Amino acid sequence: MKPILVIGAQGMLGRDLLPLLQSSFIEREVVGWDIEEIDIREEKSTRSKIETLNPETVIHIAAYTDVDGCEKNREEAFRVNAEGMKHVVMGAKACGARVVYLSTDYIFDGKKKEPYLETDLPNPLNVYGQTKLKGEEYLQQGIDDHLIIRTQWLYGRHGKNFVASILRQAREKRVLTIVDDQTGSPTYTVDLSRAMVTLLQHNSRGIFHVTNQDACTWYGFGQAILNFAQIEGVHLTPISSEAFGRPAARPFYSVLNTQRVRQETGMSLRRWSDALRDYLSTGP
Ligand SMILES: NC(=O)c1ccc[n+]([C@@H]2O[C@H](COP(=O)([O-])OP(=O)(O)OC[C@H]3O[C@@H](n4cnc5c(N)ncnc54)[C@H](OP(=O)(O)O)[C@@H]3O)[C@@H](O)[C@H]2O)c1
Repeated sequence: MKPILVIGAQGMLGRDLLPLLQSSFIEREVVGWDIEEIDIREEKSTRSKIETLNPETVIHIAAYTDVDGCEKNREEAFRVNAEGMKHVVMGAKACGARVVYLSTDYIFDGKKKEPYLETDLPNPLNVYGQTKLKGEEYLQQGIDDHLIIRTQWLYGRHGKNFVASILRQAREKRVLTIVDDQTGSPTYTVDLSRAMVTLLQHNSRGIFHVTNQDACTWYGFGQAILNFAQIEGVHLTPISSEAFGRPAARPFYSVLNTQRVRQETGMSLRRWSDALRDYLSTGP
């Protein structure tokens, strides 16, 4: 049987996803590559490495994910996130593989007042969003058998993320300033990985929005982290995005409507607060 290939296997999501794929698809070999094994910026080697492995499915979750870094290094962001996708598509196409791609809420401008549907028109506000949208387009143009999963505000055990950052800052400072005018759905990488496996088992195609349920602002997320982790004596101060002054603009409201994945698979992810409580109770 042809293997399943994960590109970006050493990232935050990859390190939760890989073991779950291995235990869910025991009949197949699951191969995890990261930049050491395949640099997706390189067209020739990316193509030939994928062709040689000849996978049944390529799960492409490698990316330049530093949103502010992308703003400052625009060219590199396009090289990795857009051109990289193109190279993966070429390799996958040559061996008839299905491709799964992880995309983001940052393809939307956040001006909508209710959760975004898969069919809503993208309009990214920042370079990262532009590059990820280009990636979606290259995949849609190149391979019919594709699955695009848009998610947001990821945290997990194996990477830099908001939860880890708040816990670290709370050890160092008594007052933390957190943005209070961006709303989204914090999503636990373990829950997202389970949803990805379910979509693969259903042979789902097209675009799906997948996040934990309910929404909050970063400030609300921060309050929940301190509360569930039982950290006292740290004061949170809400601040506007403008005053916070990050290089990349972010959407004010980018909650994703997850009805399609529910209809397709019957699966509903738990509320973000339940997932966070679970994550913190088992020691982040
Ligand atoms: N994190 C979020 O909140 C979020 C939200 C929405 C969507 N997503 C998407 O979800 C996916 C997984 O995100 P994540 O948070 O797990 O990302 P991550 O932790 O940054 O992992 C991405 C992996 O890709 C690798 N990589 C970077 N450039 C590469 C290249 N040229 N060739 C091969 N590999 C390369 C990285 O290696 P290095 O670490 O050595 O650079 C890293 O191991 C990404 O596609 C991301 O765009 C993430």
